[in-house]
Amino acid sequence: MRLVDSHAHLDFPQFDADREVVIERAREAGLLAILNVGADLASSRAAVALADRHDFIYAAVGVHPHDAKTVTPAVLDQLRALARHPKVVAVGEIGLDYYRDLSPRPVQRRVFAQQLALAAELGLPVVVHSREAHDDVLAALRDWQGTGGVLHSYSAGPERLEEVLALGFHIGLSGPITFPKAHRLRTVAAAVALDRLLVETDCPYLTPVPHRGRRNEPAYVRYMVEAVAHARGTTVETVAQATTENAQRLFGLIGKRHGDTENTDAS
Ligand code: NI
Repeated sequence: MRLVDSHAHLDFPQFDADREVVIERAREAGLLAILNVGADLASSRAAVALADRHDFIYAAVGVHPHDAKTVTPAVLDQLRALARHPKVVAVGEIGLDYYRDLSPRPVQRRVFAQQLALAAELGLPVVVHSREAHDDVLAALRDWQGTGGVLHSYSAGPERLEEVLALGFHIGLSGPITFPKAHRLRTVAAAVALDRLLVETDCPYLTPVPHRGRRNEPAYVRYMVEAVAHARGTTVETVAQATTENAQRLFGLIGKRHGDTENTDAS
């Protein structure tokens, strides 16, 4: 079974002791690709370095809304420079977080708009974080002239699904889809068009059942695929194949291997 983890944070310190072991387990679990997503400038740099060392790891560069207050024009210039690396396939994670409010909301909105503009300029899709800020996130995306992306770890409920899909965006489903009480998320998983669905771990966070309470890792993305298949009443294979193709198409993963012009698609 070929799988893609469309959202991981392998550069985070939770993996410092055994990062290479975790990456090897992901490879053994059948992961065709992992998108490692930057959270600030240092993390974006680390994501690019990690992608440079591993053929099946790709990078997104960007500053999370928590750290929006650290973004200056110089930071945006450095993100732009990092994005020249051939394995940078998205700008993220960017967005708005009104739950923790770790940066002032007007600053979050400005920095989100600036990074959306950067993605449009670079012709890259975006990986968007939206927590209790769905009205403002969707308003910003409606105004955006870019090439699409994903609402990662989707939490806007079935009510906003039609609006998100109409914007051309994908839905990323993470560990909470496996939680016993996640009825609303399973409704989303059942309703979303199969060609707009991505699966992700958001590791080291949001660990799925049956590993809940411990550290998450890319190999666990299969639990999300199983939960989505169950919610949709279809096979695990169907969801695995669709989510893998969707990630490859959205992020242009085919033929983007570093130092490689052709993808040798050994399944
Ligand atoms: Ni994340």
